[in-house]
Amino acid sequence: MIKNQVNNLKNEAVGEILEAKDEKTLEEIRTRFLGRSGKINELTKEIPKFSSEEKEEIGKLINETKKTIESLLSETKTKLNSKKEKEEWFDVTLPGEKVPLGSLHLITKTINEISDIFARIGFKRARYPEVEWDWYAFEGLNFPENHPARDEWETFFVDNLYSKKYGRGLLTPHTSSGQLREMEATKPPIRMLNIAKCYRRQSDISHSPMFYQFEGLVVDKGINITHLKGTLDYFFKQFFGPKREARIRPFHFQFTEPSFEVDVSCSECLGTGKLKNGEVCRVCKEGWLEIGGAGMVHPNVLKNGGIDPEEFTGFAFGWGVERVLMMKYGIGDIRLLFEGDLRFLKQF
Ligand code: PHE
Repeated sequence: MIKNQVNNLKNEAVGEILEAKDEKTLEEIRTRFLGRSGKINELTKEIPKFSSEEKEEIGKLINETKKTIESLLSETKTKLNSKKEKEEWFDVTLPGEKVPLGSLHLITKTINEISDIFARIGFKRARYPEVEWDWYAFEGLNFPENHPARDEWETFFVDNLYSKKYGRGLLTPHTSSGQLREMEATKPPIRMLNIAKCYRRQSDISHSPMFYQFEGLVVDKGINITHLKGTLDYFFKQFFGPKREARIRPFHFQFTEPSFEVDVSCSECLGTGKLKNGEVCRVCKEGWLEIGGAGMVHPNVLKNGGIDPEEFTGFAFGWGVERVLMMKYGIGDIRLLFEGDLRFLKQF
C-alpha cells in the first residue's frame, strides 16, 4: 500500500518536472515533494507503523525516490539554464559577419549619369531593337544599297533574317538606327536619348565587339547648329567638369548634313595643347580629344521618318559610352570593362 503511494508520488513529481518551463516552477515542485512538510516527508511519518523488515524496505524506497526526484530536478535546471544562455548570450566582441554587397557596374553607373544629365534638359530616354533591319541602320539613314560608307560600320548580319520591305536583319552597329524609330513613334518636338548596345566586327584595346552608344536626337521648328553646339558644351561641362568645352569639325556622315566630328578640350591643357611650362601637352598634343559624330539631320532622313524637312529641322549626335567613361576615369583598355574582374570593378 505505502509502496504504491511512494511510487505514485514519484511519477507525479517526474511528470510535473518534465512539464516545468522555468526555475521557479522547479523550486516550487521541490518544496511540495521534498520540503520539510512535503508529500514525501508526510509518508515518512507512517514508517514507525511497520515491522522492522518492512521499515527498512520502505525507507530504502523513499530514499531512492528522493534521489530520483532530486537528480531530475537538478538535471532539468541545468537544461533550462543552458537553453536560456543559448537564446540570450552572444559575444559582443566577435567581429560581425560582413554580407558582401554588390554594386552597379561602371557602365551602368555611367549610363545612369548620362541619362540624368540629358533628362535635366528634357531628353526622353528611348530604347529600340538591338536586332534590327537594314532599313533603320542604313538604307533609311540615306545609305544607298552597296554604298561604300557602310563598310565603316563593320556590321554583323543575321543569317536567314530578311524582310522584303526592310532588307536584311542585323545587329545594330550604331544607335542612329533609333532615329527613324523615334520619328515613327513620336511627332515633333522630339528630344530623344537612345542608349543601347551596339555590335561591330572589331576587337582591340579601344574596341569591343559589343559596346554601348548613346544618341541624342532633337527635331523641332527652327533647330540649328548653335543648339547642337550648346547641347554638346552642356554635356561636357556636366560630365567632365565646368572647364571643359566642345569643338565641332567638318566631317561626313550619310545621315547628317552638315556633319561634324566632336572633340572635347583636354583635361590637362584645356584646349591649348601646351602645358603651363610651355611644353607640348603629353595627353593630347594639340588640345583636343576626339569623341564622336554629330550633325544636322539630313532632309532625306526626316522624310523617311515621316517628317516634313521644310517645316522641321533637327540635330543628332552619337558615340560610345565606354569612350567618355574611359576618358573620365583614365581607363586604358576597354576590355577591362567586360571581363568582370572584381579587383578592377571594385575601384569604382
Ligand atoms: N552613328 C555614328 C557613328 O556610330 C555617329 C553619329 C551619330 C553621327 C549621330 C552623326 C549623328 O559613328
